[in-house]
Amino acid sequence: MLSSLALSLRLGVSAAGRRSIATVVSGSKTSRLVRDRLKQEVDQMKNLFSGFRPALVVLQVGDRDDSNLYISSKLKAAAEIGIDARHVRLPRSATQDEVLRSIMAVNEDSSVHGLIVQLPLDSAHPMDSELVTNAVSPEKDVDGLSCINAGKLSRGDLGSCFIPCTPNGCMELIRQTGVSVAGKHAVVIGRSKIVGAPMHDLLLWSHATVTTCHSKTPDLPQQVGRADILVVGAGRAEMVRGEWLKEGGVVIDCGINYVTDERRPSGKRVVGDVHYASANQRAGFITPVPGGVGPMTVAMLMENTVQSAQRFLLRDQART
Ligand code: GUN
Repeated sequence: MLSSLALSLRLGVSAAGRRSIATVVSGSKTSRLVRDRLKQEVDQMKNLFSGFRPALVVLQVGDRDDSNLYISSKLKAAAEIGIDARHVRLPRSATQDEVLRSIMAVNEDSSVHGLIVQLPLDSAHPMDSELVTNAVSPEKDVDGLSCINAGKLSRGDLGSCFIPCTPNGCMELIRQTGVSVAGKHAVVIGRSKIVGAPMHDLLLWSHATVTTCHSKTPDLPQQVGRADILVVGAGRAEMVRGEWLKEGGVVIDCGINYVTDERRPSGKRVVGDVHYASANQRAGFITPVPGGVGPMTVAMLMENTVQSAQRFLLRDQART
């Protein structure tokens, strides 16, 4: 059966054969639905397990403005849902050993179910961010960035790992379109550990044929033109142009870039990695920036935290 979104894609082709603009896939609306469901689940857990609450620690090193902003939206979402979120701040002067010790302390704290280390690390000392993210216990790694969770995902063992929040949010948005992934050609731009690489794995294990492009890919427009589903996590403002796109495809934009805009009081505005004005003339579905992938990342972190707490409860019950 066609979903209402898929139906509007069909209706989007006018009698004259010219396409109208793409259907906007709202992350703000979808994330609200996810957060409402999670609140209900947390309320149920509280009732069933005498006041039990999922608990999340967000560890921050330093004081980057962008990290402060992201963390405050995570803490706000957690509070709304009923998750006990704790913000642990270490100064820029913290050494790698001190960061690792803080992670170990949270790993050993049985009252905490999820731990994320906000990236990038803003430290005055050299930091091996791979070592730091791998220090998080895989059972509490609700960012899904440790080798154990990434390895499980790459093998298609999706039921026993934590899926990184941004790609997980992208999958949810693709589901919202009603377009099925199986058998489609998906193109991912970017191969970061946090977005591109896990996105490739998720699409692959959803049975798409996946091409992952990066800075050394020749003929990027040609690759993009083959995409039934395009996910962009390139970190370059408005890099993907509407003319590159396959007509009627799904376009998911993970970019958050600030560009100067003298007409705004702040002197800047946020844009994605996709040139929205031209892309929405050609795509079937498109995520906006802001209000697309960003809110979904936060919602999926909450989802992983609740899931982790549920797994803790199950393990506890199995022991007794
Ligand atoms: N920095 C930007 N996005 C993220 C994220 O999803 N998780 C973490 N830990 N840091 C980030």
